[in-house]
Amino acid sequence: MAVPDQVISEVSSLRDEINAHNHRYYVLDNPQITDQAYDRLYRRLQALEQQYPELASGESPTQRVGSAPATHFETVEHRMPMLSLDNAFDESEMYAFEKRLGEKLGLGNEPLSYTAEPKLDGLAISLRYEQGRLVGAATRGDGKSGENITANARTIASIPLQLVGDPVPPGIEVRGEVYMKLADFAGLNEYQKRNDGKVFANPRNAAAGSLRLLDSRITASRPLTFCSYAIGWIEGYELPGSQYRRMHLLRSIGLPVSAYIERVQGVRGCLDYYQRILAQRDSLGFDIDGVVFKLDNVGQQEQAGKVAKAPRWAVAYKFPAQEVMTRLLDVDFQVGRTGALTPVARLEPVSVGGVMLSNATLHNMDEIHRKDVRIGDIVIVRRAGDVIPEVVSPVVAERKGDLPLPQMPAQCPVCGSDVVQQEGQAAWRCSGGLVCAAQRKEAIKHFASRKAMDIEGLGDKLVEQMVELGMIQSIGDLYRLEHSQLAGLERMAEKSASNLLQALETSKSTRLARFIFSLGIREVGEAMAEALANAFITLDAIMQADIDTLQQVDDVGPVVAENIVQFFAQERNRDIVQNLIKQGIHWPEIESSDKTGSQPLAGQTYVITGTLEGLSRDQAAALLKAKGARVSSSVSAKTSAVIAGAKPGSKVGKAEAFGVEVLDQAGFESLIG
Ligand code: IVH
Repeated sequence: MAVPDQVISEVSSLRDEINAHNHRYYVLDNPQITDQAYDRLYRRLQALEQQYPELASGESPTQRVGSAPATHFETVEHRMPMLSLDNAFDESEMYAFEKRLGEKLGLGNEPLSYTAEPKLDGLAISLRYEQGRLVGAATRGDGKSGENITANARTIASIPLQLVGDPVPPGIEVRGEVYMKLADFAGLNEYQKRNDGKVFANPRNAAAGSLRLLDSRITASRPLTFCSYAIGWIEGYELPGSQYRRMHLLRSIGLPVSAYIERVQGVRGCLDYYQRILAQRDSLGFDIDGVVFKLDNVGQQEQAGKVAKAPRWAVAYKFPAQEVMTRLLDVDFQVGRTGALTPVARLEPVSVGGVMLSNATLHNMDEIHRKDVRIGDIVIVRRAGDVIPEVVSPVVAERKGDLPLPQMPAQCPVCGSDVVQQEGQAAWRCSGGLVCAAQRKEAIKHFASRKAMDIEGLGDKLVEQMVELGMIQSIGDLYRLEHSQLAGLERMAEKSASNLLQALETSKSTRLARFIFSLGIREVGEAMAEALANAFITLDAIMQADIDTLQQVDDVGPVVAENIVQFFAQERNRDIVQNLIKQGIHWPEIESSDKTGSQPLAGQTYVITGTLEGLSRDQAAALLKAKGARVSSSVSAKTSAVIAGAKPGSKVGKAEAFGVEVLDQAGFESLIG
């Protein structure tokens, strides 16, 4: 069957449109449509190409999915050798560079003009285009010949498959760096960890490993980026005589070029550029290991020539290394906000990326075992971007004899409570909860918050100040605060001290569900607290329930049940709870289900989703509960009905799957009368 003309022209215009958006996104750094709108165009093109296979084209922007694995990479000889760069490590070496150049060019001490750009930390490749079409890609290899990685390069979205411009150069070889952005690297490693894949030590290794895969379909799934920085050769095309203008020309024919490229004057201009880029290093979002300066005048470049494998007309002024080696002296454990214990490496102090480090994170025990890091090892430490400095790996070749693996302490180093690990979780946690100083501030803030005990005027800053001054150790101390203590605090007037005491007093009258929620038991949110209160009626019953009994309650799974049991197993938590009650916290008795039996919605469970007109979800829940119903946060076969307001979430789908009734606003109103 012939393809309708209309389809041919739609496919062609979709391809042009998508190519134009790619160009705006990757080259001009100026996208003009949202990701969703782009995805829509892309999917439409994919659908048409699937429906009409005769329209298939290797040049289509959809053809970046990779192809069947190769058995090996062919070797390709570079028509022009791919050179490397000489390095400079300090200002005097930069001055020496310009002096040599001036002498070679017979110019004396005149400052020269340079193109300046970041030195990307990835790997060099060359791309060959014929009549604007990408026909070959190769790694640098030894500079004379490299590996043919065309199938892999084609999967990198920022490498254009087709150049733009009228005319495009009949033949051109472009050189540049393939690298991985820091966020993409973190995402890839997360994915690899979840899927038991290879975890990469740094973005450079990840980029190299991903580009040199025989299966280009896997390369297609790796987030690689390309940036051009040189022209290898060009045919049938007039080029400007300035390096800087040549880079702009590349950009104009559709190739990505650094956004940080500048023309600078003399060594002074170079040093200034170096400082400015160094200051931005941590916020660039990708690794760079220095800046590169290239003589701007191409005529002068040719005159200067090269030595061995590097040109005389260019230099890489290196930044302090972001990865260095040092000795791991010991491993301590830090207790975070949620009680998680993080192993922290104590290091022989070392300068990393220009900053002295004596600590770095080891993330968690699983990581320590995966990396096999031992106390006393020489380790590689990395500090990059906004990421916390971390121990990348031990240098096993340097290890002498048997070294001990770090051990998770049995007791919390801050409060002495038991340290526990939950099944299926990497983190070990302090079970101290309310009594652990490290968790105290957060626990008190949560206790005072609006949906918990709702203590007006007890804000985060005030909590921090009081904990730091030792005025309160735990939530149990809040109701013992005195006016004279409060009035002595920074920015606390007489009146506000009295108001806070009043608010504390008022908060004592609460509901059991709120009180349970206030305790900050892990994963016990408002709805869960509500379910527990309704099911157990009394606090004592909850405190005494075992894991099996707790799991009888809707929504309570094994993890939450264990959290609850562990919380109340700690004697200190039990003491705090009893003390709060002694200090006057109270709630109205919950009517047991035989009494609620007379209520119209007793025994029914509802789930609310979406926005109801005229009332919040909390208010809707309160109305249902007033009629004896339970309100749950998740849909199950036991759910009586799902109440769906405007823009409901996935819960409606779940309800349908379980065959649970879905009520709209009108249905809800008639239900509550
Ligand atoms: S120019 C003749 N410019 O650094 C010039 N190289 O140490 C050859 N690199 O193999 C390279 N960013 O992988 C140049 N803006 C940049 C660069 C850059 C990174 C890498 C490239 C090269 C190595 C040389």
